[in-house]
Amino acid sequence: MKIAILGFGTVGRNVFRLLENVKDAEICRVLEQPGRITEDFMTSDPEEIFNDPDIGIVVDALPGIHPSYEYIKKALNAGKHVVSSNKAAICFGFSELAKLAESKGAALLYEASCGGGIPIIEEILRVGSNDSISRVSGILNGTCNYMLWKMEKYGMSYEEALKEAQALGYAEADPTADVSGFDVRNKILILSSLAYDSALSCDVPMMGIEQVTKERMEVFRKEGKCIKLMGISVREGASYAISVCPVVLPDTSLEANVASNFNIVSFTGDHVGELKLYGQGAGGDPTADAVIRDIKKILLGDAFLYERKFENILTEDASLLRGTCHVGGRILKDHVLSEALMEAKAQGCFFAFEP
Ligand code: HSE
Repeated sequence: MKIAILGFGTVGRNVFRLLENVKDAEICRVLEQPGRITEDFMTSDPEEIFNDPDIGIVVDALPGIHPSYEYIKKALNAGKHVVSSNKAAICFGFSELAKLAESKGAALLYEASCGGGIPIIEEILRVGSNDSISRVSGILNGTCNYMLWKMEKYGMSYEEALKEAQALGYAEADPTADVSGFDVRNKILILSSLAYDSALSCDVPMMGIEQVTKERMEVFRKEGKCIKLMGISVREGASYAISVCPVVLPDTSLEANVASNFNIVSFTGDHVGELKLYGQGAGGDPTADAVIRDIKKILLGDAFLYERKFENILTEDASLLRGTCHVGGRILKDHVLSEALMEAKAQGCFFAFEP
C-alpha cells in the first residue's frame, strides 16, 4: 500500500526510516516545508497527497492542532486511512474525526499520540471491550518527567533540564505545551474518552511544572516523597473528574521510580483490577514504532477490531478527585483538587496534589 507522511521532523523522519523494512508498505510522498525540499518524493503541496488515488494511508506526524486537524479531515474525506501521532489535533476534534472516519469506512488510528511507544490505547480498547474502566492516570509527558528527574537526582536547574530535553527530541517544537500541562491534558482526555467510551470535553483543571523548584522538591525529598506531573481521571456511574497537575508520591511507588523520558500509565477495570504499562513516552524511535504498529494493523486488516462509539453521556463532578492539596506553603487536607488548584492559579503559587 502506498503511504504519505505529513511532516519530516522527529517523528516523520523515524517513521520514514522504520517503514523501509515493512513488507507491503511503500512511501511515495512526504509533505515538507517549501524551503526544505531536498528529495524527489518530497512536496510542499498537501493537495498532491489528498488527490492521489493511489495513496492508501496518510501518516500525520505534524505538531499542533492546525493545519493537522484540517489535513486529517481531508485525508479521511478522500477515503484514506489516517495514522496520527498528533495528540493536539486528535484531541481537538476527537469524536468528530472518529465519526468522519466511520462514515468513510476509513481507519483513524493514533497509538503514538499517547505515551510514545507504550501500547496504551490498544490495551485500553482491548480491556474496555469486556470490562468497565473506572480510573486512568499516569506520567504522560516525557519532557516533564526528564526535567523533574534531572532536577531531583542531578541538581540541574529547570532551564538546563529543559534545554537537554529539547536537544534529545522529547519536547514539542514549542515546549510551552509540555511544561504547562497542555500536552498531558490532550493525552489524558484521549485515554479517558476511550476508557469511558464518552467524548469528554470539559475544561480540564490544569497546572504544569512551571512552579516546581529544586528547593520545593528538596522539602518533599526529606519526607521520602517526590513530585511527578500526572494526568488523572476517575469515573463513578455517569460522573467523571479529570485533572493535570504535579502529584506528590512516596519514593516507594512505581511512579516515583519512573526516570528520564519514560512514562507509566495505569488504568483500573472492574474485573481485571489495576494494570500499569511502562515505557519510553517520548522520542523519535519509540513514537515512530507506535506509528508503524498502527500501519501494520491497517495492512493486516485489524484496524477496526476495537472501535469506540462514544455513546456514554458523562457529566463532570469535580468533587470525585479529592485529597491533600499543597497550595504554596499551605496544606489543605481532604480538599477538592480543582478548587485548590484554581486557588493556587489565582495566587500564582505552587500547587501539588497528594492522593
Ligand atoms: N513532547 C512529548 C513528551 C512528546 O515530552 O511527552 C511525546 O508525546
